[in-house]
Amino acid sequence: MKVLVTGGAGYIASHTDLELLNAGYEVVVVDNLSNSCIEAVRRVEKLAGKKISFYEADILDKEALREIFKKEKADAVMHFAGLKAVGESCAIPLKYFKNNISGTVTLLEVMSEMNVKMLVFSSSATVYGNPSKVPVTEDFPLYAINPYGRTKLIIEDMLRDLYASDNSWNVALLRYFNPIGAHESGEIGEDPNGIPNNLVPYIAKVAAGVLKEIRVFGNDYDTPDGTGIRDYIHVVDLAIGHIKALEKLNENPGIVTYNLGTGIGYSVMEVIRSYEKACGKELPYVVTDRRPGDYAISYADPSKAYKEMGWKAVRGIDKMCEDSYRWQSKNPNGYKS
Ligand code: NAD
Ligand code: UD1
Repeated sequence: MKVLVTGGAGYIASHTDLELLNAGYEVVVVDNLSNSCIEAVRRVEKLAGKKISFYEADILDKEALREIFKKEKADAVMHFAGLKAVGESCAIPLKYFKNNISGTVTLLEVMSEMNVKMLVFSSSATVYGNPSKVPVTEDFPLYAINPYGRTKLIIEDMLRDLYASDNSWNVALLRYFNPIGAHESGEIGEDPNGIPNNLVPYIAKVAAGVLKEIRVFGNDYDTPDGTGIRDYIHVVDLAIGHIKALEKLNENPGIVTYNLGTGIGYSVMEVIRSYEKACGKELPYVVTDRRPGDYAISYADPSKAYKEMGWKAVRGIDKMCEDSYRWQSKNPNGYKS
């Protein structure tokens, strides 16, 4: 079976490419490299000992997509391509609407023309907004709290409408919680541009001595130690969730929605402590004001994914931090190292 992976050079998709190749799938990557490097694809090929068909193309480019689909005759699509920086999406929402929403419409039009109707989509726990209680189940109310989140919600709605209009589509909406960590080889990992926005990539740069100290965004939340709690999930567990979703769609077509998280919440301070164990030193931090838009606590109820597709995350927080630190240490400047 051949899988076309949009955004396939990116962080989560590169780990998924590897799991796909290891599981015997053929992989075609379409990426405009706006937030990634071709080196990631080359390293996946090396780790798997198999080739990937790579196309540097934009999902907004309909003609290019048509040519790729005609040539490759993929059976299914995993759609990761998208912009994901929450702050930037508030500053330049149209960039996000065009890239994420119009890009997905273009992709779906070409899939429809080519009669490729199996899709796994990278959604996000951001579709739950600020959840009113935890753990979060898939039937919680959905709403967006920023333009990035709105793109995920609109795309989910589009896919539900598309399926309602034509139930020969097979769609999996995967709502990721907080993906972190790296492949245990230390050869592929997250390589953010500039100063990281997210907690663990920021800690990694402090551990490496590139940034001076961790900023803890608020310690006055209603949580045991006052810092925010999230459901961090190892990127390899997440990648494996995509293979399980594809198997599920193959056996049991329809539209399905799953939370991909561990079901366990860790506070910012607990993550810092775990990272200190991984790198073997104390990490300096300062407590600052809360970050606008943040909320106290979110973690998944991932039991539906276990019940319906036999998937559950098995890698714990210490392993996530160890693998993150290995990637950081082996590649101090990311793929440019
Ligand atoms: P990433 O930026 O590493 O990967 C996205 C990839 O898509 C990049 O390689 C980028 O170059 C490519 N891309 C972007 N726009 C494109 C376009 N128009 N045409 C072709 N390629 C394009 O991000 P990631 O963290 O790996 O996230 C992958 C997906 O998962 C995204 O859709 C993101 O919104 C979603 N997601 C990520 C997280 C997270 O915490 N990382 C959480 C929930 C959901
Ligand atoms: C953020 C995005 C979310 C996106 C997710 C995955 C926001 C408001 N939300 O989620 O839409 O789906 O990333 O990419 O940006 N923290 C610090 N110091 C830091 C960074 C973060 O204390 O330098 C804290 C935050 O307050 C939060 C936790 O660490 O409590 C996790 O933050 P982060 O990694 O940015 O993820 P989210 O905010 O959960």
